[in-house]
Amino acid sequence: MLLRRTHTCGELREKDVDTQVTLNGWVNIRRDLGGVIFIDLRDRYGLTQVVFSPQDNEKAHAEADELRNEYVVGIRGTVRKRDPENINPKMDTGEIEVRVDELYIYSRAKTPPFEIKDDIQTNEEVRLKHRYLDLRRGPLQRNLMLRSHVYRAVRNYFYDHDFAEVETPVLMRSTPEGARDYLVPSRVNPGRFYALPQSPQIYKQTLMISGMDRYFQIVKCFRDEDLRADRQPEFTQIDVEMSFVDEESIYEMAEGMMKRILEETTGKAVSVPFPRMSYQQAIETYGSDKPDTRFDLRFVDFSDIVKDSEFRVFSKTVADGGKVVGFVAPGFGTLGRGIMDRLTKKVQQEIGAGGLIYMKNNEDELYSSVSKFVKEETSRAMVDASGAQTGDLILILAGKSPHVLHQLGDLRLMFAKEYELIDESRNDFLWVTDFPLLEFNEDDGRYYAMHHPFTSPHPEDTGLMDSEPGKVRARAYDLVMNGSEIGGGSIRIHDMETQKRMFGLLGIEEDEAREKFGFLLDAFGYGAPPHGGIAFGLDRIVMLLAGAKSLRDVIAFPKNQRAQSTMDNCPDEVEKSQLDELYIQLKPVIKK
Ligand code: AMO
Repeated sequence: MLLRRTHTCGELREKDVDTQVTLNGWVNIRRDLGGVIFIDLRDRYGLTQVVFSPQDNEKAHAEADELRNEYVVGIRGTVRKRDPENINPKMDTGEIEVRVDELYIYSRAKTPPFEIKDDIQTNEEVRLKHRYLDLRRGPLQRNLMLRSHVYRAVRNYFYDHDFAEVETPVLMRSTPEGARDYLVPSRVNPGRFYALPQSPQIYKQTLMISGMDRYFQIVKCFRDEDLRADRQPEFTQIDVEMSFVDEESIYEMAEGMMKRILEETTGKAVSVPFPRMSYQQAIETYGSDKPDTRFDLRFVDFSDIVKDSEFRVFSKTVADGGKVVGFVAPGFGTLGRGIMDRLTKKVQQEIGAGGLIYMKNNEDELYSSVSKFVKEETSRAMVDASGAQTGDLILILAGKSPHVLHQLGDLRLMFAKEYELIDESRNDFLWVTDFPLLEFNEDDGRYYAMHHPFTSPHPEDTGLMDSEPGKVRARAYDLVMNGSEIGGGSIRIHDMETQKRMFGLLGIEEDEAREKFGFLLDAFGYGAPPHGGIAFGLDRIVMLLAGAKSLRDVIAFPKNQRAQSTMDNCPDEVEKSQLDELYIQLKPVIKK
């Protein structure tokens, strides 16, 4: 039996009064007021109050006695205007109610382990285990709908701009660079493994060589790495590649896409082009390659002023090639001793800095936490250089560079969060450009590609590739939104010679390069267009638009901190026969 609905639970208004309607949904809440039963009926579209009264229909009223929260029902009835005192302006359908003539119970429900309402305190593990119930709650329903609208805006945008949507394989060869691969054993090729893509990078470049010209895909990527609030082992990219383009074409395409997404989902206007900043400038100004520019607190470098100071922390740091850097916190000169002591402890424990030095530029005195060691004239010179006004606080760290810049970047964020200096209503976009091509790893004494091995070196720096590889800039860019990296890409190498040189710098021997990327090198030999691209983190974009704190709030079925899904209990052990088919024998797990 199905009562076919005429309307959703979010639809009825005053204009519908006196119409006969049929609604389907879940019992959100049930109230029994002196023999009249009121139910808020819920579906994805909203809530509607339905009323069972013996005067309207005795049978339906008697049957409604059984209803409990989360029962799924269909009702038939007549829309009535509510009495003025019962109008609920907080509800979209709050002006009307439906007086019921017929009730049909589709299914009964046990008492859920937590209430299905917007604000709940239930711990996340319980919610993840019963994800199907959690997803019934308003905030998660709204997030999934927002996500769906983001897909729509993205697809429309790329179709309008003549991009081809192409699916790339989920089973591919393992190319361990960056994160660890998730491996999949092959039954028909015993002892051999596929890997799940960390990104479709190699395929999209191959598509350019194939002449597809403009490609996009909304695609799942898999990375076996340590999880954080903004990282999931399985996440979604908006992946893009274009032929015959330079950075400008990519920026323009990406800006248009973000504009379309924001305007179609939140309705907020976005002004383009987005500002740009080099990697070096971002690190020197904000101590981060993904600076949150919604608040100021820019860095000042005091190294030159303090290099000859009698205070050894200053002079020795500079002599050893380090930096003394800080920022001005306008108007915070009144923070008391206790607060500053707590901040100092936090900086030591959470940021790992040796200590925090501060000055308060107040009218009556210039207070310095290191006044015993630093001459007043030096402190004055620091205040002047910083541009601090009367009443301002200056926070200062000393240490090895660039480490100390990153620490100050963390302090900048910590301070802004603590004192609510971030204007959450703003959406700030920023291109960070000119990333270094390579990153040196002290542990194994070799260079790694900062972005990936297919990124083109900056043409002005190719002369440095052999002499000072660490100084070579890449034609790589990240897109930052409100202090989160939401996209990254590069102009690629499209000739075999440069690609081989790059592998050389990365210590990838010719044999190894052939084995891992042979087909791509071969493909380069058959006419490769200049090309470049970018991938956006779709989950992160939705998270920022939704104002959510975790990616888990915008992914229908996310993994927990241990990369598990407790709802379907995965990963799990498998049958011995399954392993036998795959020629896999397990080693005992030795717990440390
Ligand atoms: P990259 O590794 O920078 O580039 O990834 C692109 C974007 O994907 C998002 N992202 C993640 N989101 C959630 N969980 C994760 N574990 C995760 N890892 C990355 C970020 C990031 O900016 N193939 C290149 C792109 C290219 O060069 O075209 C790539 O994958 O928002």
